[in-house]
Amino acid sequence: MTKIILDCDPGHDDALAMMLAIVSPKIDLAAVTTSAGNQTPEKTLNNAMRMLTLMKHEEIPVASGNKTPLLRPLRTAGNVHGKSGLDGAELPDPDFEPQKMPAIELMAKTIRESDEKITLVVTGPMTNAALFLRVYPELMAKIERIVFMGGAMGLGNWTPSVEFNIFVDPEAAKIVLNSGIPLTMAPLNVTHKAQILKSEITKINDIKNPVAHAFYGLLEFFERYHEAPKWGFKGAPLHDPCTIAWLIDPAMFESKLMNVDVENQGDLTDGETVCDYYELTDKPKNTDVLLNIDREKFIQLIMDSLATFN
Ligand code: BDR
Ligand code: CA
Repeated sequence: MTKIILDCDPGHDDALAMMLAIVSPKIDLAAVTTSAGNQTPEKTLNNAMRMLTLMKHEEIPVASGNKTPLLRPLRTAGNVHGKSGLDGAELPDPDFEPQKMPAIELMAKTIRESDEKITLVVTGPMTNAALFLRVYPELMAKIERIVFMGGAMGLGNWTPSVEFNIFVDPEAAKIVLNSGIPLTMAPLNVTHKAQILKSEITKINDIKNPVAHAFYGLLEFFERYHEAPKWGFKGAPLHDPCTIAWLIDPAMFESKLMNVDVENQGDLTDGETVCDYYELTDKPKNTDVLLNIDREKFIQLIMDSLATFN
């Protein structure tokens, strides 16, 4: 059983990551913290709470994080996730209150009170994770690993060489990548292989429960953005759930350990993750980079997980 804190910016694929974590008997979701990214911090907090309400897991503590990236103004992704950040489904209003403390305090409390080490899963910009490491360095030893969706090796989805989560807060990503904590990275190279096909989205509608019904609407909406011919996709890339899927079943993936750092000054490459695939430097191999996924197994995990709700 892996005990995790999920730091997310829901976000369609964040919501799916949360769902996988809730259902899996291999994961203990101890807390959810929200970041500013796909939408404003108010909206991502509300979305996380709406999803937990829908899935009847209001007992999981939720706290909202920093309002902006560390140094830069917030840039959001309403073009991908809609005005609410979770467009496409009717979701219930939250029926519980968020924690009064900020995200990094909830992280600290959860880690302090835990008998075992905690894995931090980050599926949005790394602002909260970086702040946490700076404010509570004494708790770093109790973090087992940071598993994050972000970055790419030679690809971009926001600028030609930059992925959205790192684009929003490259300074935070630099802090996390250089923290010395073991890291697992789900870059675009793997998440673009983790596509759910349109026909598979349709099949979700055959699963008759309110959670599956909501995800059917959410994924239909999310898929539309990815229909643009420039992507060459056959469906929608499910970025964020790759993190949880790796924790549940690492054998579903192929990965390579290498040094990864972040460029945050380049004229054309600001926010690029620089991955030393061929070991051209002596820098520490700080990151296990996921490169391939057994797509069918991954989709089966999602379908099976959705079918567990009543
Ligand atoms: C990442 O950006 C967000 O829009 C998604 O939720 C995912 O975390 C993909 O680049
Ligand atoms: Ca996300």
